[in-house]
Amino acid sequence: MKKVWGGRIKKAFDKDAEKFNASIDFDKRLFKYDILAGIAHTKALFKTKIITDEEKNKIIKGLKLLLKKENGIDWKKYEDVHSTVEIELTKLIGVLGKKLHTGRSRNDLIATDEKLYLKDEVKNIKKLLLKLLKTILELAKNNKKIYMPGYTHMQQAQIISVAHWFLCYFQKFKRDYELLKFIDQRIDFLPLGAGALAGSGFLLDRKYIAKELGFKNITENSMDTVSDRDFIIDFLNFTVITANHLSRFAEDVIILNSNEFSYIEIDDAFATGSSLMPNKKNPDIAELIRGKTGLFYGNLISILTMLKGLPMTYNKDMQEDKKPLFSSIDEIKNIIFITEKFLRSIKFNKEKLLFNIDKSYMYAVDIADFLVEKGIPFRDAHFLTGKLIAYCIEKKKSLKDLDENELKNISKYFDKDFIKSLKPEKSVNLKKTSGSTSEKEVNLQINNAARLIKNET
Ligand code: ARG
Repeated sequence: MKKVWGGRIKKAFDKDAEKFNASIDFDKRLFKYDILAGIAHTKALFKTKIITDEEKNKIIKGLKLLLKKENGIDWKKYEDVHSTVEIELTKLIGVLGKKLHTGRSRNDLIATDEKLYLKDEVKNIKKLLLKLLKTILELAKNNKKIYMPGYTHMQQAQIISVAHWFLCYFQKFKRDYELLKFIDQRIDFLPLGAGALAGSGFLLDRKYIAKELGFKNITENSMDTVSDRDFIIDFLNFTVITANHLSRFAEDVIILNSNEFSYIEIDDAFATGSSLMPNKKNPDIAELIRGKTGLFYGNLISILTMLKGLPMTYNKDMQEDKKPLFSSIDEIKNIIFITEKFLRSIKFNKEKLLFNIDKSYMYAVDIADFLVEKGIPFRDAHFLTGKLIAYCIEKKKSLKDLDENELKNISKYFDKDFIKSLKPEKSVNLKKTSGSTSEKEVNLQINNAARLIKNET
């Protein structure tokens, strides 16, 4: 293996230790960013007169050429991405390539590469999330007049509009989107110039390098800079929360799609069959979205554990930050992408929803509220309505089947006409608070959602 160190070490590296030490298998993903960092650094070296204008131009030309030669590189010859760039550059432009690493360390470089890479991926993930939000908004708009049972404790509770169910997820993914934007700002501090830990002996203009690389700010303490991986923790935390939301969405779809509910129909294009049971149509895509969630939790815990107890400043343990980061980036993109596509294909079964609402007692709160309007204390109204429902269950009747006598036997305040008038639409529109499932409030949510999407696109 070709190395960028060696003078001090008298023996050849043990072959197995060398393999164990290398990170090239995974950090080659950062190649482009290592080159971009190299170009900006080279410009700063020229600015502080460590290299001439001509040398600067040659190095930058070489680095740009190297970028195009990525496919031809024999990666296994190198320890890591930084050695690859430096040694391959030297092959291309001669000894001048050896000046590239002046005034920098792999410690400030790796943090710079990772941040540049993450900033790009954050952009990609923001786009994916925005697309998901757009789709959810469309579905909410198209399902304003379809109603479903809402659950607490997995028991039928109160009627909601399907739009409200979609918008519930809109809020969750909106928070994820906003969290990602915030994290983006926290990443935006240039590490380069921190050197190994103490800063550089050359007056590198860090603000200039930051501008060249598209960072808004520079870090303030060189020791913090090379030891910090908070930006990875932040990002992995984002993936944990987002995956958790995606998993709960997947779980809702799985349950509501089951034969027992049949509220949702998954499109055949997103379902699988069984190798044995010809009758099966399985929601594998939703199950995988749910199932992959553990990976994000694991990756976050792995980074937190790796960093816990590390002395200041850089330690090689930190090389292990990449695999969890890369795996979480790949998988979060994967599941946001597929969720959006999958979501577009689901259909609500209006008849089944109406049938279940009809035979339920989900108008109970509306009836109790009606009694409250008549001046009955809520606790009593709750008790009387509860008695009415217990009576219905005993007699196997629906609320609407009750005659005047049966109602008045329990309370003279019950009103047959009001109970008869209860429909899903009326029930949701009886809700008055902001953020509720009433059509008015759902429309407000839709307008706010549309505004957010417009502002972000
Ligand atoms: N491969 C290393 C990493 O991923 C790069 C930094 C190495 N620094 C060092 N002093 N050995 O963290």
